[in-house]
Amino acid sequence: MTDIAYHPTRLRALRDQFRALRAAEFPWTADTVYLNNANIGPIPERTRRALDEFTAKRTAPHLLPDRELQAGLQAARVAVARLLNAEPAEIALATNTSHGLNLAARALPLQRGDVVLVSDREFPANVYPWMLLKKQGVEVELAPCAPEGWPDEDYLVERLHDPRVRVLAVSFVQFSNGYRADLARLGVACRANGTFLVVDGIQGVGNSVLDVRETPIDILACGGQKWLLAPWGSGFVYVRRELISVLEPPVTGWMAFEGTDDFSRLTEYNPTFRSDARRFEMVTLPYQDFYGMTASVGMLASRSTPVPCTSRCAAGRTRPASGSCHRAPRRTARRSSASLPRTPSRPITR
Ligand SMILES: Cc1ncc(COP(=O)(O)O)c(C=O)c1O
Repeated sequence: MTDIAYHPTRLRALRDQFRALRAAEFPWTADTVYLNNANIGPIPERTRRALDEFTAKRTAPHLLPDRELQAGLQAARVAVARLLNAEPAEIALATNTSHGLNLAARALPLQRGDVVLVSDREFPANVYPWMLLKKQGVEVELAPCAPEGWPDEDYLVERLHDPRVRVLAVSFVQFSNGYRADLARLGVACRANGTFLVVDGIQGVGNSVLDVRETPIDILACGGQKWLLAPWGSGFVYVRRELISVLEPPVTGWMAFEGTDDFSRLTEYNPTFRSDARRFEMVTLPYQDFYGMTASVGMLASRSTPVPCTSRCAAGRTRPASGSCHRAPRRTARRSSASLPRTPSRPITR
């Protein structure tokens, strides 16, 4: 019996839906194949319109009262929370991935002699903030990759038995080969060993489903510019709710404190951090970029089925470009939408 999800009628409907979405939001794809999403994600038409509308108002700032600007930021937190099945209170807006990774490196309670385990060949945004901790006596250990070049999860889980390993830092999806980490497995192993799991989400969030209620992640940092199809300058950090009140922001913004929504009382200088993840935000944020992010993330969150756009290539059923071959995980569970076409050593002749 054909599973209802794969019934030909349903697949046809999905394909039609997908074609319509592509025509409406990315009309230029009618004659262009774009494979560089892992670098820059395209802005959908609905987001371009939202940005244009915002910029039109920005030319006459009286059209943008503070309450509307703040509501715009809250809408972005709500949209991201919906995508991850998080609570809006667990989302701090940020201007890039690095903000969240630095937050993790500086706010997590690490001491001399502790070990931060980072899988080797991670994107450097997930390495340098940890390396800075060496000055404080924290050891940064680069775990060797599997022969294929992606995180060796058996090795990582094994290393977690060492009580000195206080943090495991890994990407949701590897930037160089599209390998999607088994965050559920790593998260459970981290929990069992009292280790914090910090995830660089930028290459996976938006193309792969992630439910933070089911996957034990402590901190997830993500920029919007790739798979969230959002403007540069937009991004977020998810901080697990139980951790929020425990972590003190290492640097601070003036709206990170209780009572600062009331602009008539700004100089009362209440020293109490907010109880939600806004305590980690550095206001003023680029409002226009978050308007854009809300529109893009809203589009992604409303999709019922994630469609890994390169999956047919990765499975070897199609080839991304004539004469080139492909380096990506073959197991579906570990594959994402990102992969790396390898250019051939010989010139291609037609
Ligand atoms: C895995 C990964 N992390 C982080 C980044 C970028 O970090 P940021 O958003 O801080 O520029 C990239 C790519 O630019 C990336 O591929």
